[in-house]
Amino acid sequence: MQTDPIVYRSDVCTADAEAVRRIVAASGCFSASEIDIAVELVDERLGKGLRSGYHFVFAQRAEAVVGYTCFGPIPCTESGFDLYWIAVDLGMQGSGVSRELLRRSETQMRELGATQIYIDTSSRGHYDRARGFYTSCGYRIAAEFPDFYGPDDAKVVYVKTLATLIPPP
Ligand SMILES: CC(C)(COP(=O)(O)OP(=O)(O)OC[C@H]1O[C@@H](n2cnc3c(N)ncnc32)[C@H](O)[C@@H]1OP(=O)(O)O)[C@@H](O)C(=O)NCCC(=O)NCCS
Repeated sequence: MQTDPIVYRSDVCTADAEAVRRIVAASGCFSASEIDIAVELVDERLGKGLRSGYHFVFAQRAEAVVGYTCFGPIPCTESGFDLYWIAVDLGMQGSGVSRELLRRSETQMRELGATQIYIDTSSRGHYDRARGFYTSCGYRIAAEFPDFYGPDDAKVVYVKTLATLIPPP
């Protein structure tokens, strides 16, 4: 049996909104309003193009999207970027697709001038795998905000420094 190769792309098409909804909902990690926000970012990008500030990498096998990232520059910072979303189909987790999606996203952010990449996540057990993944991809915890999302649900901010900022003379 031949398996179709995974293809990565950064262009965004209308069908991606529903693909994002399907992948994010199937993960079981996100609330209905978080799922809506994930889809809204695709819609923003479709409506405004790169002016939206939302960049994407999609992993696709044959016609099906199997994972994606969304990232962009953080307003009012010189060169900080946020990774807003990373999610991969349950059947493709542990396959290396997530690592490759993140690697390609980092390359694009670097090309766009990023010096630091930030990722916000939650301390809840649902996100153990995500936190392990970020650590194994070279991110470190920069800050924790206890009870940020709710009781015993801290916000955990990861960072990867791509280049050291040089202070002005
Ligand atoms: C987060 C996510 C993208 C990670 O992708 P993944 O394919 O599951 O990650 P992998 O299985 O390739 O794991 C990568 C690394 O993470 C680490 N890891 C995985 N599960 C872990 C766990 N439970 N505890 C600690 N580390 C873990 C391992 O060190 C692994 O490294 P290795 O490849 O050297 O063994 C994926 O699980 C996902 O889509 N989750 C649902 C959506 C989500 O939570 N997104 C993040 C929101 S903040």
